[in-house]
Amino acid sequence: MELGMIGLGVMGRNLLLNMADHGFPVAGYDQDPAKVEALLREGKGLDLAGADDLQGLLAGLRAPRAVMLLVPAGAPVDAVLGELAPRLGPGDLIIDSGNSHFKDTDRRGAELAARGLLFMGMGISGGENGARRGPSMMPGGPPEAYQRVRPLLEAVAAQAGGSPCVAHVGPGSAGHYVKMVHNGIEYALMELIAESYDLMKRGLGMDNAGIRRSFQEWSEGGLGGYLMEITAAIFARRDTLAGQDLIDAVLGVARQNGTGIWTSQSAMELQVPAPTIDQAVAQRDLSALDRERERAGHALPRTTGLRRYDGDRSVFLVSLGQALHAGMVMAFAQGMALLGAASERYGYQLDLGTVARIWRGGCIIRAALLEDIAAAYARDPALANLLLDPDLARTVLSREESLRAVVCAGARTGTPIPGLMSALAYLDSYRSPWLPANLIQAQRDCFGAHTYERVDRPGHFHTEWEQE
Ligand code: 6PG
Repeated sequence: MELGMIGLGVMGRNLLLNMADHGFPVAGYDQDPAKVEALLREGKGLDLAGADDLQGLLAGLRAPRAVMLLVPAGAPVDAVLGELAPRLGPGDLIIDSGNSHFKDTDRRGAELAARGLLFMGMGISGGENGARRGPSMMPGGPPEAYQRVRPLLEAVAAQAGGSPCVAHVGPGSAGHYVKMVHNGIEYALMELIAESYDLMKRGLGMDNAGIRRSFQEWSEGGLGGYLMEITAAIFARRDTLAGQDLIDAVLGVARQNGTGIWTSQSAMELQVPAPTIDQAVAQRDLSALDRERERAGHALPRTTGLRRYDGDRSVFLVSLGQALHAGMVMAFAQGMALLGAASERYGYQLDLGTVARIWRGGCIIRAALLEDIAAAYARDPALANLLLDPDLARTVLSREESLRAVVCAGARTGTPIPGLMSALAYLDSYRSPWLPANLIQAQRDCFGAHTYERVDRPGHFHTEWEQE
């Protein structure tokens, strides 16, 4: 067998079936025998083995062995590695394909390297369907390890623009870092889409069918992408339990597994502004305060009530599509800037054009916009920020007034749209040569003698601000 999979939840099982479909003999093991049975049932007729225990899985692998883990991130990964590592020998390869934190991946890589084992941290995106039909994969770690599994990964990956959506992104924990930021961008895009929904629902009073039509139209007009497609499909779904549109039966409390939080944490640590991702995390947190929001709704009634938009509705809808498009560019700009900074800090040697290319298919954030982003890096591989690319700048500037109008409408109607607002503020801040941080510096120096720099001469200065 070419590869052994540990963890036969839906992702592990589907990825293994995908490998077997492509003619690679593979084996799977899970501590739950029912999952091994499910694999064998679904993989009937394929060159696929199921193992009853870890030893059995390893015995069937050709040397040097390649083992992939698809188990929940955190303690389960360490537990499996604790059992697995002593049973492997020098040159054997372990691939962790879960959503592991990049710092865990670094630690594990060092521990396993000390035993002579190769370790790769690989992000996979695309959910269960992606795993089965073609995901986007972001492997990191030793390049020679990647070469060993490259034919297998290229065969099972999604294809976009004639190439597979997988590439060795960099050494160490680069793969998991890139996947983490993918998810941060995913959070931001989802939040921007949700805010657009809110503006249509509460701002314009539109029904679900109308909202669906808008998402569909925008998708066809350059804003196309997987998240937009599933959004349109969601609005068409009827509820079999209560005879209404299913979306209206879904509780407005967003859960999270944490990768968006990690992205924001890392952005703060590296001091890279990523406000739209931060807001997306904050809005999920706010959504979870459902009881408190209920109370606050009574305690803090709006003096004017939640207002409907009173301007031209069709003009507003066009603006909203444009604002969403601009907001999405800003979300990608923040995420890619974070990747650039992390690449420098952690020595990932990321090629951001390659990252954009492997996100064009298979993953959750795949979108037409990624073609423009890949083209931007093809023009300038060292681009500091996507907003500095002339084409993307045009995309944003031609939609700027729409974004501004939509943000104003959100404020006027009382519709909470912090993602769109943060996108506009990011644009306005990023392109502003002057920011009021001179006052912040003066305040810091005033209360804490932190010193300040001057615009007209070098050096650090301190002033006793409150003395005449
Ligand atoms: C993907 C998804 C996947 C998963 C997220 C959801 O790329 O296939 O991002 O990794 O669905 O973990 O994240 P939350 O549970 O944090 O929303």
